[in-house]
Amino acid sequence: MSQLIFRQLFDPTSSTYTYLLGDAESGVAVLIDPVLEMVERDLKLIDELNLKLLYVLDTHVHADHVTGAGLIRERTGAKSAVASRAQVACADVHLKEGDVIRFGTHSLNVLETPGHTDSSLSFYCNGMVFTGDALLIRGCGRTDFQGGSADQLYQSVREKLFALHETTQVFPGHDYKGMTSSTIKEELAHNPRLAAQITADQFRQVMKNLKLDYPKQMDRAVPANQSCGFLSSKIGETMNVPTVRVNDVRQNVKNEMTVIDVRRSDEFNAELGHIDGAHLATLGPDLDAFLKSRSLDDRLMFVCRSGKRSEEATRLALDRGFKNVLNMAGGMLEWNQQNRPVVRS
Ligand SMILES: [Fe+2]
Repeated sequence: MSQLIFRQLFDPTSSTYTYLLGDAESGVAVLIDPVLEMVERDLKLIDELNLKLLYVLDTHVHADHVTGAGLIRERTGAKSAVASRAQVACADVHLKEGDVIRFGTHSLNVLETPGHTDSSLSFYCNGMVFTGDALLIRGCGRTDFQGGSADQLYQSVREKLFALHETTQVFPGHDYKGMTSSTIKEELAHNPRLAAQITADQFRQVMKNLKLDYPKQMDRAVPANQSCGFLSSKIGETMNVPTVRVNDVRQNVKNEMTVIDVRRSDEFNAELGHIDGAHLATLGPDLDAFLKSRSLDDRLMFVCRSGKRSEEATRLALDRGFKNVLNMAGGMLEWNQQNRPVVRS
């Protein structure tokens, strides 16, 4: 087995750990739980270490930060992987218990450890376990939303994580006290919530009495993470196309997706204006030609006046086999109503 490259990276805003694991000989790597705001740092390091990223993984759909997975996938061509049960449609790989992610001579083993959320995963690799928020150092993730369950978390930790060899090093998804790693043995002895002598009943009581605040970034993070960290997308009820609300379109959207305005050219520069960087491809032969010129992997967001024509365009792109397309609901009417910047040239 070749040497394992291992880096633990930290985001001070959300106290999140991101882990880079690489195979020294073949130069391939995986990244666990990247944070959107830290993507440049991560990519720079990957580049400096001469690594090629194969997979970018999330332990769960995070509520406290937006994942960098989508952007990293875009920039590196790595495949994004999340729990199959998380129902993140835009992910490339949908993971379940027992799956193995290989990178060179190394591999990550997927453990389903629900409880913090109903689809949380842990990853085991060479005597290390990456636990996300299932098991933290002397603590654990909350269990009061996203399908969380104290009973399920207790069972996951006891049956999956504490079943690992006691020397296994524990690398959590967060730490708020400056700790970086632990071991199964230490947590069995000293975890105040989950140590060996604590019963499921006691654990349930502790979790019930936590009374935590609603996470600050939750409204932004959960929907964004369900669309690989790009934009919040929900499946439209009527047309069944992936949809994004104006509120969830980030300012620098043009760096992340191609914005395609499907209105007529006279509308493009009229009073409603258009989004900076938007590409005009009028619904009909123009859009047709445009779609033919693009790769099916391209990330496209369709825009029109009210969201109707763009819905049709999104449907057309889906029918053609595009995988990463979104309709901006409400169109430029909504965009202007929200006082978002427009270009009129
Ligand atoms: Fe979490």
